[in-house]
Amino acid sequence: MKKLASVTLRPVTEDDLPLIYERQMDADSVRMSGVNPRDPDEFERHWRETLADPSVVARSIIADGEVAGLALCFRVNEMDTVGYWIGKEHWGRGIATAALAQLVDEVKTRPLHATCSKSNAGSVRVLEKCGFEFLGYEWAEARGRYSAGELARFRLG
Ligand SMILES: CC(C)(COP(=O)(O)OP(=O)(O)OC[C@H]1O[C@@H](n2cnc3c(N)ncnc32)[C@H](O)[C@@H]1OP(=O)(O)O)[C@@H](O)C(=O)NCCC(=O)NCCS
Repeated sequence: MKKLASVTLRPVTEDDLPLIYERQMDADSVRMSGVNPRDPDEFERHWRETLADPSVVARSIIADGEVAGLALCFRVNEMDTVGYWIGKEHWGRGIATAALAQLVDEVKTRPLHATCSKSNAGSVRVLEKCGFEFLGYEWAEARGRYSAGELARFRLG
């Protein structure tokens, strides 16, 4: 595997959207995250609103010059919540960890919250490595794009 030289964040632009769309469709990523893809209309509406919303921090992750994924901070139920999604071809190189560390450095708000599937060992590890505290598991029914399942909750600060 290629050694990683640099990871930086920059604002998501409209030009990034086709790649984000493709990556949210990836079956392995969907299985891992428990998050189902948005259909084209929903995707278009969601990202139009997201890019226009000053309260959302949406960053593309640039790893060695390539757009490797996405890191975000957005409000869910009054909680500032982080999320990330790395293109499969870039997994296992420390990119999510480096990107989340930079995001939580950029976003000064605390506490920050995160939720992931209990079975998503990679995501759990990324959160732990970035200093998030494990709060516990909870069962979530299927809702919107999210499959039913056991969720792990985390908080930073
Ligand atoms: C989960 C995900 C973000 C991990 O990204 P990544 O860039 O491969 O993660 P990193 O390389 O920074 O790995 C961080 C740690 O997790 C571990 N890890 C990564 N993927 C793993 C997996 N599938 N199973 C077990 N451990 C894993 C790594 O070994 C590393 O731990 P270590 O330093 O102790 O060895 C990526 O697989 C992904 O985007 N998946 C699809 C979308 C998703 O699940 N997003 C999160 C929703 S909450």
